[in-house]
Amino acid sequence: MNLIDLRSDTVTKPSPGMREAMANAEVGDDVYGEDPTVNSLEARVAQLLGHEAGVFTPTGSLANQLGMRALVNPGQEILADVDAHVLRAELGAAATFSGITSRTWYTKNGIFDPETVLSMMRPNAGPHLVSTAAIAIENTHNFGGGTIQSIDAISALRKETQSVGVSMHLDGARLWNAHVATGVGFAEYGSHFDTVSVCLSKGLGAPIGSVLVSSKERIANARVWRKRYGAGMRQVGILAAAGHYALDHNIDRLVEDHRHTRAMAESIAKVAPEIINLQSVMTNIIVLNMTTHDLDAPTLAAKAREHGVIIGALGPQTVRLITHLDIDDANAKFATDVLTDLLG
Ligand SMILES: Cc1ncc(COP(=O)(O)O)c(C=O)c1O
Repeated sequence: MNLIDLRSDTVTKPSPGMREAMANAEVGDDVYGEDPTVNSLEARVAQLLGHEAGVFTPTGSLANQLGMRALVNPGQEILADVDAHVLRAELGAAATFSGITSRTWYTKNGIFDPETVLSMMRPNAGPHLVSTAAIAIENTHNFGGGTIQSIDAISALRKETQSVGVSMHLDGARLWNAHVATGVGFAEYGSHFDTVSVCLSKGLGAPIGSVLVSSKERIANARVWRKRYGAGMRQVGILAAAGHYALDHNIDRLVEDHRHTRAMAESIAKVAPEIINLQSVMTNIIVLNMTTHDLDAPTLAAKAREHGVIIGALGPQTVRLITHLDIDDANAKFATDVLTDLLG
């Protein structure tokens, strides 16, 4: 059986065109700064986001960790939401490697409220309390269900944080999706943050790769830390070529993923309205809350798999469905039929 995999947008396989671009990439030793394809990708992403420089990393987690390290000294704190990938899914890396402490705020579906964040901020807290050095915002928000942070909320937060010297990091692993859904430009998003990470290996379909952008000075320093962490890479132009291909071909098509997700969400809401919040379905992710349903998340996942659809049980009562590049109209319809039959 041909399985339809909705666990993540990281499960895509490189397309023939992407593989060809990778095979033909010009390469060099990137630790010496001599890989032209990596260099051009870093410069391209930095320019896209309106920043001076970029550094290529194998993972989004590393790009986030290098970004946070650049903004927060050991013993200082970063503020983020309780479900932020940078804290919850990067396994305590900020504390482990950078001595960064954190405090978190609660959200509904990952969407932050500037007032809440500002009320937690304690910059320059003196000798008795931890000082807030930075705030991390995730856009779109993964565990929140692909939700989008409003540009007005971001700019309101930026205005206040800038005036007291608190920095802002954007975990933009899926910023592509936010851009396509809202029309807000990448540089407009980028202008409100000191460091921005973006992933090429999620909705854009590259097999690997993220880029952290910031000032020249911070990126030069991040390059040193990347090497120190053991992620100095050599002829990785073959990977950066996949990133260039992804930027050329796979941004605009994200509207397809959003269309599939919307249709799937609306069909699910018809048969089981209590498990889905349609308002929070904004991009390519659906989160189902199975608390009041007869099936729990692992049971639904097991049954869906028997019918050829793989879905993610994130916890006993939480299911996540993500559409992506390898899900076409027919796959989306098939998966929707399977899920609505099981849930109805
Ligand atoms: C919002 C967000 N940030 C960062 C990452 C980390 O990416 P990676 O798996 O490449 O470390 C992910 C991965 O799913 C993510 O969803």
